[in-house]
Amino acid sequence: MTDFSTRLRVLGLETSCDETGVAVYDTVSGLLAHKLYSQTQIHARYGGVVPELASRDHIRKTLPLIRQTLADASLSLADIDGIAYTAGPGLIGALMVGAGIGRALAWSLGIPAVAVHHMEGHLLAPMLEDPQPAFPFVALLVSGGHTMLVQVDAVGHYRILGESVDDAVGEAFDKTAKLLGLPYPGGPELARLAAKGRAGVYRFPRPMTNRPGLDFSYSGLKTFALNTLREAESEEGRVSEQTRADIAFAFQEAAVDSLVIKCRRAVEQTGIRTLVIAGGVSANACLRSALHDLARQQAIALYFPRLEFCTDNGAMIAYAGSLRLAHGQSEEAVISAQPRWQLDSLPPLTGKS
Ligand code: KG4
Ligand code: ZN
Repeated sequence: MTDFSTRLRVLGLETSCDETGVAVYDTVSGLLAHKLYSQTQIHARYGGVVPELASRDHIRKTLPLIRQTLADASLSLADIDGIAYTAGPGLIGALMVGAGIGRALAWSLGIPAVAVHHMEGHLLAPMLEDPQPAFPFVALLVSGGHTMLVQVDAVGHYRILGESVDDAVGEAFDKTAKLLGLPYPGGPELARLAAKGRAGVYRFPRPMTNRPGLDFSYSGLKTFALNTLREAESEEGRVSEQTRADIAFAFQEAAVDSLVIKCRRAVEQTGIRTLVIAGGVSANACLRSALHDLARQQAIALYFPRLEFCTDNGAMIAYAGSLRLAHGQSEEAVISAQPRWQLDSLPPLTGKS
């Protein structure tokens, strides 16, 4: 576990998209409790996240979830020393709920509150595990909104090595799943369908792998999936379940392969042999297995968060916030959030914890 010199109990709030996540992290004892409420059912009938519905539901769920999480940890609000809330990037209305509740609680309790960058939360999620990865490491962050490779020299010392020039890989999973007629949220559904697909029936391109560099592109894969589907359709516009599974297989294979190729390149380019994978798509079994193979072949130390901390959760926000609060960082008493926020603009940790 990270060494902290003082005990801080930090309440973390995650409300950037369609999950309400709450957790309490103790800088001496570690994670004390965490709870997640997913809005999947609310958005499923629309085939994607409806921002206004997301905000309204965060309003309904955040306070009850805080009460339940504190009860699980056998704590009361009076035991909390600081609050960490996701302040971006994400849906502005949804972010404002967490920021508003976090700030208001901090104000009423007379304790500090810190705005946490959602992707820093993902990036540090593997630090909730034992053993923790040691700095420096290369992080592959793969979520619904981001696909990036980051050189992490220390907390707050982030160098973006490459990122998607168009869609994020999670977004490509979701859009391709929709094309294949799968329900929202598409990524895990597509992975399930791909498990029934056959290798070698279709071959999708590996975008941006035959030129140097560490950037990604995923919008072409989705178009390739659409064209493959159209060609496979009967005159009545029908496609067999097996063909849909074969297309899902080929899409996933190409999406994963291009991530693995770029990870290998990032390790070669930086000479850093510790690789950390985080964000929703890091829950993908095919990606995890392909990266395990890469790690074995190249003697790379590989770290993932546990499955429930791959996707959005409050624990990663409580942890990232606790590091910053322990180093004396906190915000003015103003409620604000940023839908866009550059990861490499974050400050390093200063002072002793
Ligand atoms: O990190 P996350 O929970 O939220 C964002 O910050 O975006 O990531 C959600 C993304 C979605 O695009 C979802 O489809 C994808 O992660 N995802 C998966 C899997 N589980 C979640 N994609 C592929 N395979 C999975 N098993
Ligand atoms: Zn996320």
